[in-house]
Amino acid sequence: MKRGLNTRGIHGGERPDPITRALKTPIYASNTFAYPSMEDFFSAAVNAYGINPEEFTYFYTRTSNPTTNALELKLASIIDCKGTITTSSGMAAITFAILANYRVGTKILASDSVYRSTNQFATETLPKMGIECDNLDFRDLHSLENQLKGNNYSVVHFESPANPTMRCYDIKAICDLIHEYNAEIKVTFDNTFATPICQHPLKMGVDFEIHSSSKFINGHGDALGGIIACNNTEVLADFRRQFCETLGQTPSPLNSFFILRGLKTLGLRVKEQSNNALKVARFLEEHKKVNRVFYPGLPSHPQFEIAKKQMDPFGGMLAFELKNEEEARNLLNNKFQIIQLAMDLGDIQTLIEWPYIMTHYDLDYDLKVATGITERLLRLSIGIEDVEDLIADLDQSLAQI
Ligand SMILES: Cc1ncc(COP(=O)(O)O)c(C=O)c1O
Repeated sequence: MKRGLNTRGIHGGERPDPITRALKTPIYASNTFAYPSMEDFFSAAVNAYGINPEEFTYFYTRTSNPTTNALELKLASIIDCKGTITTSSGMAAITFAILANYRVGTKILASDSVYRSTNQFATETLPKMGIECDNLDFRDLHSLENQLKGNNYSVVHFESPANPTMRCYDIKAICDLIHEYNAEIKVTFDNTFATPICQHPLKMGVDFEIHSSSKFINGHGDALGGIIACNNTEVLADFRRQFCETLGQTPSPLNSFFILRGLKTLGLRVKEQSNNALKVARFLEEHKKVNRVFYPGLPSHPQFEIAKKQMDPFGGMLAFELKNEEEARNLLNNKFQIIQLAMDLGDIQTLIEWPYIMTHYDLDYDLKVATGITERLLRLSIGIEDVEDLIADLDQSLAQI
């Protein structure tokens, strides 16, 4: 019988340290690992890339490290997949997964509604390398089909719910369409907003599930990290050899330790954040100063039916529109007592930000308009505070504008 998410979060990937019997995985702050002889070194080096992730061996921390490896195994257990690779940040994981799957002579296709730095990578960095990347609205499956037919893609990338608009896309339908058209195309998917608790994209046809573990996965806003999860350990071992070693985007053992610890409460946190977010979303929807709320768990969400099919619960992220830009600015100007104005998400404490001016400040204006990132849209990342306090804080701050 498969164990539950909370049990896997606590026990997955870890065992008492075989030498010291320390119950918690120590921070192995060592660049390298010493062997008594060349023979021992060679026999250890055989599994340094993790073909068999349960029996990892080590020679240099840029490739693999025991603290990081415990984190990778726990992630695989929670995500319920064959293996994971961790990176120094979410952006490292996204760029790594896209580059590792790209094939010369092809192009990349990305949803037009992705995190700003992902868009920057697609529109500024990739063209500098001579790699073309097209953008498309993935809500329209007919235009996606036509786009596939007219081009030669090796990688398709998207995220759902999208940052910051909360747009949701039909993950299974999109993956089926892509793979039926060409099974060689790899789908990379950013699951950061939904977390492995609310949504399981690998089971819907995605080839590589990506997370910024700086967000919900760690949950405490004190360590950056990224994850690539997939169901093929040979591919992951090859990526580790070709990309972890050469691109050097490895996490530090200290950050791996923080994220490993945060991960143990992921299930509890995300369920509480989802409960709080739904209540906050309902409160905002009723508020006369709020124009519109975007939360996948509200029947008013434009893709509610899609979200219901693929998310449970609906996560801790939401967005809402005020009447105009002035009111948005006004609300953010020190009106809050608990909620903090800060450009992060997935933290145990509630954070608010203004995507138009902050996280998505330099996104192409037409793209902002097309994807709904308006001057009056605010993004809320809901924490695990008592929801009555969050609602009271929003109520008093909205009363002041
Ligand atoms: C959806 C999404 N993906 C990826 C990232 C990048 O993560 P990191 O900051 O860990 O590089 C972010 C950052 O905010 C994000 O919101």
